[in-house]
Amino acid sequence: MHVAIIGTGYVGLVSGACFADFGHQVTCVDTDADKIAALNQGVVPIHEPGLAELVSANVRAQRLVFSTEFAGSVRRAEAVFIAVGTPSRRGDGHADLSYVYAAARDIAAELRGFTVVVMKSTVPVGTGDEVERIIRAARPDAEFAVVSNPEFLREGAAIRDFKHPDRIVVGSDDARARDVMAAVYRPLYLNAAPILYTGRRTAELIKYAANAFLATKITFINEIADLCERVGADVQDVARGMGLDNRIGGKFLHAGAGYGGSCFPKDTLALIKTGQDHEAPLRIVETVAHVNETRKRAMARKVVSAVGGSLRGKTVAVLGLTFKPNTDDMRDAPSIPLITALHDMGAKVRAYDPIGMEQAKKVLPELTYCEDAYECAKGADALVIVTEWEQFRALDLDRLKEVMTERPAVVDLRNIYPPGDLAQRGFIYESIGRPSRREK
Ligand SMILES: NC(=O)c1ccc[n+]([C@@H]2O[C@H](COP(=O)([O-])OP(=O)(O)OC[C@H]3O[C@@H](n4cnc5c(N)ncnc54)[C@H](O)[C@@H]3O)[C@@H](O)[C@H]2O)c1
Repeated sequence: MHVAIIGTGYVGLVSGACFADFGHQVTCVDTDADKIAALNQGVVPIHEPGLAELVSANVRAQRLVFSTEFAGSVRRAEAVFIAVGTPSRRGDGHADLSYVYAAARDIAAELRGFTVVVMKSTVPVGTGDEVERIIRAARPDAEFAVVSNPEFLREGAAIRDFKHPDRIVVGSDDARARDVMAAVYRPLYLNAAPILYTGRRTAELIKYAANAFLATKITFINEIADLCERVGADVQDVARGMGLDNRIGGKFLHAGAGYGGSCFPKDTLALIKTGQDHEAPLRIVETVAHVNETRKRAMARKVVSAVGGSLRGKTVAVLGLTFKPNTDDMRDAPSIPLITALHDMGAKVRAYDPIGMEQAKKVLPELTYCEDAYECAKGADALVIVTEWEQFRALDLDRLKEVMTERPAVVDLRNIYPPGDLAQRGFIYESIGRPSRREK
């Protein structure tokens, strides 16, 4: 099958490479000429495990090409996927749909024969109707159907998630469009991925409801962690005790610094706006977004308490900047408000991230960036673990003790160390939702 993907970012590139790997003939289109030029020279612009290899193998096999031109790719394609960004609109939190609508207009001009226009971007309920209207207005003669097919992949595990999804959601009442979608995803039947056919609006809402629910789970355990700290309980054990209940499940019950990343913050805000617009306010999600927002700066107060009351003139080493491990994505990373708060409180901040520093420099230019964890810790009063990269899980604690100041503090915002270990070696140790162990 011929498939066109409009928007060659995280979702577009992963989807395009995976579809090509299934044997489809794929063109990934983007308006960013530099990105397309880089991809045509074999440079993959994002860090995602396995992606560079998958892209190069499929380019070599001539199943995957990159272009800035809509014409050829859309004309040939039986399915055209829209995978452009839908960031928060400045000022009100609604999803900014300008990229989606621009893509719809460009697609409309090139439609030839029956074509399925597939919305892969996360878009508010009713966007499919508007895209259909835009295309119909531009091309009253065109034969097409607009389908919602939200994407659930996680950055850092994107290829696996795309090839082994828990489910594929296809929102359309058009029988011809459903057949095309079944053909696109046929290779996944082997992986036993169920396809859930729904109405278009329902599919659009499934994506937001799923993300808001996961954000709620994270925020719930974060508040339970705060309570654990007050009452002397251990949130790790509480989460395990909850998660072993199959009705609850153990995933997304890791207390931490608050959710961030390219999806949860903007998707919860957009869903809240949809609820308000339709006079069906989502009060739980509103509270989740508010609690999460305040949490990130509150993490800076943990650092203050670990160093004994004031950060003025103190040096803080931050390990991990990206919003999660195995990606270089800095969008809405919790490290950003945390570091801003540390600066506001008078701290000098040094930082190290295994992969994300080039991206981080664009949003946090004023940091001192270091070569590795130990150089970062040099002369620091406090070391804050923000992102749980594998290489931070077994740090040489004696070496850290040597390079840090006399009464070093470790603030472990991912609970990756057993509290006793660090206290025994003379660190002040703070984590999330566990009894704090201080140096005797
Ligand atoms: N990143 C994720 O983990 C993830 C997961 C599931 C769903 N999504 C959703 O998928 C969508 C895309 O997210 P992303 O992270 O891949 O975004 P991204 O910012 O990485 O990529 C978007 C790309 O679209 C291009 N673009 C913008 N307007 C265009 C146009 N008119 N024509 C062609 N290209 C255009 C941009 O240049 C950019 O390369 C969003 O709606 C997002 O919410 C993202």
